[in-house]
Amino acid sequence: MTERKAFRFPENFLWGGATAANQYEGGGTEGGKGLSVCDVLTGGSRTRKRQMTWINRVTDETGYTELRPRQSLALPENAEPALLDGEYYPSLKGVDFYHRYKEDIALAAEMGFKAFRMSVNWARIFPQGDEEEPNEEGLQFYDAVFDELKKYGIVPLVTMCHYEMPLSLSLNYGGWTDRRVVGFFERYARVLFTRYQKKVKYWLTFNEIDNIANFPLICAGVPEYSPQAVAQAAHHMFVASAKTVKLKNEINPDMMVGQMLAYMPVYGYSCSPKDQLLAIDRERDALFFSDVQVGGYYPAYKLKEYERNGVVLKTEAEDFELIRRYPCEFIGFSCYKSMCVSAGQPEKRNLKNPYLEESEWGWTIDPDCLRLTLNELYDRYRKPLWIVENGLGAEDTVENGKIHDQYRIDYLRDSVKSIADAINLDGVEVMGLTVWGWIDIISAGTGEMKKRYGLVYVDMDDEGHGSLDRIRKDSFYWYQKVIRSEGTEL
Ligand code: BG6
Repeated sequence: MTERKAFRFPENFLWGGATAANQYEGGGTEGGKGLSVCDVLTGGSRTRKRQMTWINRVTDETGYTELRPRQSLALPENAEPALLDGEYYPSLKGVDFYHRYKEDIALAAEMGFKAFRMSVNWARIFPQGDEEEPNEEGLQFYDAVFDELKKYGIVPLVTMCHYEMPLSLSLNYGGWTDRRVVGFFERYARVLFTRYQKKVKYWLTFNEIDNIANFPLICAGVPEYSPQAVAQAAHHMFVASAKTVKLKNEINPDMMVGQMLAYMPVYGYSCSPKDQLLAIDRERDALFFSDVQVGGYYPAYKLKEYERNGVVLKTEAEDFELIRRYPCEFIGFSCYKSMCVSAGQPEKRNLKNPYLEESEWGWTIDPDCLRLTLNELYDRYRKPLWIVENGLGAEDTVENGKIHDQYRIDYLRDSVKSIADAINLDGVEVMGLTVWGWIDIISAGTGEMKKRYGLVYVDMDDEGHGSLDRIRKDSFYWYQKVIRSEGTEL
């Protein structure tokens, strides 16, 4: 590919940072919030999976069940997820944005943010999920947050469902496997659009919808793992996505609804055609979701796969027409790393790539993955793109009140260069970059605090102890300079 001559970014490029309510907001059950799926998860680590805690309603016995990727949640009979005394639940506390949003937004403004990605916690608006009326106190909280952002001219980018849903919808309906959840989500979307149409222009429906097969519970409130359950839940989410776009057009077409995809380029380990075929197959695990939500159609490769696996979707007559007529208008995606596969070892979902270094958590460090992703998605859909998550999770050390995180600066600098190349050399339309976890928050994967992505340090440990004070890291000043120079000073 052609080499770059300069780094340039469009004047209206939306520089900023990203967060999610279940990892950031906290506020437990204050303000009338109900429990959401992540609230009953404990912390974990690199080697220990996060667990769901439960109580047996008949025997009063309590216990822990590991959340394993691509497996059903195995709770004993009569057991229900519940909070246990003495246990620490990272999502309930987050890093206390609920009480500190003014301080945090002031820091974002100091860095020069143009955009602030956050999510609304569905259970703060509809505590059980299936009520007729929303929780006014929850709505007021987000009003206050959006007003604070406006004070600094920062544009919110709001995810409607970021790895959570009211726990009660998961328990009583099986999450998105139940068609009625489409209606509950529609009601939720109507409330958000009506209330915030003057304050929020950019919306994302479901965070990393393509992770549903890996984490059905967190992505879609689905406790059961089976190809049938996952496909049915995904179908309902597609219908809800189309209905959300339609609703937005009716309420205020100036708003924009985007899709949110977790995308990782997949490389064939060798130049063997078999490795390349497997790589295409694995990329389709993600692209299927954008083909439907953005392309507006169910792709042939997925229909064939369903046929092979005996998956039969329950659909309604209008579904496919809705999906075709109301695609998402832009694509927000997360991209942190790439994968590598070999047809000789198909059971391994990712092999070590000999050309790339890895982070402390084993994620490849591959700045080219951004340019590759931007090109792949733009060529396929011709819709504007927004890198809504990218960053480096690493352990930080505080030395005399300072955090010298050159490793994070290096990672982000290479990311920014890769985006600049996609814009300037390839002509990709990129709306913005919101760096993941711009302020340290709980890790989604491990529930840890020590896996830090932030440009701002938060004084808290894995058990929730600490002053919660915010400290500017070296990367804070670096990003401030990048934004001020519109990406020319890296
Ligand atoms: C994305 C999620 O998958 O990656 C975020 O949308 C998550 O919620 C981020 O935090 C980083 O993953 P982790 O496991 O390091 O927090």
